[in-house]
Amino acid sequence: MATTASLKIEDKEYPLPIMIGTEGEKAVDTRGLRAASGYVAYDQGYGNTGSCESQITYLDGDNGILRHRGYPIEQLAHYSDFVETAFLVIYGELPTATQRKEFGLQLRKNAVVEMQMQKILEGFPTSASPMAMLSAMVAALPAYYPHLATNNFEKDLKNFDFAAAIAISKIRSIVAMIYRYIHGLPFVYPKQNLPFCENFLHMMFSEPYQDYEAVPEVAKALNLVLLLHADHEQNCSTSTVRMVGSSASNLFTSISAGISALAGPLHGGANVAVMQMLQSIHDEGDDGTRFIAAAKSGTKSNRLMGFGHAVYRNFDPRAKIIGEACDTLLTRLGINDPLLNIAKNLEQAALKDEYFVSRKLYPNVDFYSGIIMRAVGIPMNMFTTMFAIGRAPGYIANWKEVASNPKGRIYRPRQIYVGATKRDYVAMANR
Ligand code: CMC
Repeated sequence: MATTASLKIEDKEYPLPIMIGTEGEKAVDTRGLRAASGYVAYDQGYGNTGSCESQITYLDGDNGILRHRGYPIEQLAHYSDFVETAFLVIYGELPTATQRKEFGLQLRKNAVVEMQMQKILEGFPTSASPMAMLSAMVAALPAYYPHLATNNFEKDLKNFDFAAAIAISKIRSIVAMIYRYIHGLPFVYPKQNLPFCENFLHMMFSEPYQDYEAVPEVAKALNLVLLLHADHEQNCSTSTVRMVGSSASNLFTSISAGISALAGPLHGGANVAVMQMLQSIHDEGDDGTRFIAAAKSGTKSNRLMGFGHAVYRNFDPRAKIIGEACDTLLTRLGINDPLLNIAKNLEQAALKDEYFVSRKLYPNVDFYSGIIMRAVGIPMNMFTTMFAIGRAPGYIANWKEVASNPKGRIYRPRQIYVGATKRDYVAMANR
């Protein structure tokens, strides 16, 4: 296979090295192009740019393949759970029994959120966006753990295991606290003896004299939802984490930036948008025809939420798994959710529609995740924070790759300037 490509500009040829990934992914290395030729590579939104080499997740959007550290998502969804997959994503290998126990212990030990941090949360209006609160609370973590967040890669990596456990465990606890706070409920402390998801449900739903006991199916479904969100290659929020981390910012600050990026409706916020769409179809007694017709107008604000993906062009393997889990959970719990029926009808109608077929638009992970979360008892305004709990391991693993790369450099893309050319200042009286 060729090891060099060449680019011809006018009469001059510029050799560009070829890179091949372990799964055969091909890239042309344009790093030296500007110095050699004065040209930069233009790729708005980085849709065709490899911004890093990574060992964490392999994604083949054309064939609907997603693997973490080599393990297919279907196998992880079937055999693993969120905490084990988090370990795999962060450390690169499935844990041994001893490692799994130690990791679980660290998560349990770090579940309590400091009293002073609780006061920060109580400073927010109860009407604040849960994602804004979550991002701000995570941004505050360096203030409480300055020795873990020094903004020096070498020092921060020495304490990485501790910082990673704090991030995973506390993001989960903070989300539960946000829920309690905006609903005017007292905070519930975590219990040392409960597994990760059960502890989360306890912090969310226990009452002063009535502990919430999670039905196994519910804890299992929650585990699956979190696991399916654990990492997803260079998506918008993970790339944000890497970009912020590349300036040697600490783990917590970088994750906080990622959470802000996740909040948007085209990314993590889509799970809320899907439910709002399904609810309004339900309320209007429509069968979805109106939404499909509007979605075809091509405007961003009318898109069929939960459909389409920046990289999957065949199907989103996570959507397949979550769609089936949704059916199983609702059947086991005896819930008949009209929104599930609407979602199924909408999916069938869209999959037959030329507009969606020709653009290869299929349901993505968010299309059914909201219905599962609703069955678990999570209110809609908390959905995107659930995505953030799930994505924390991916953020952590990606930050670690940036921090441990001896050849890493600060992320600093170029642009093509298309603004006004040089002009002279005009005094205000003459404008
Ligand atoms: N409804 C209607 N039309 C769509 C949709 C949609 N959901 N998604 C894409 N299109 C159209 C788009 O307008 C374009 O049309 P045309 O060729 O006529 O200009 C064509 O399909 C191709 O779009 P694209 O290049 O595939 O889209 P993109 O890569 O710019 O955007 C996306 C990807 C996920 C932002 C987009 O599909 C979308 O807005 N989907 C709805 C929001 C959503 O569900 N987001 C969650 C993504 S999965 C969770 C996550 O990882 O965050």
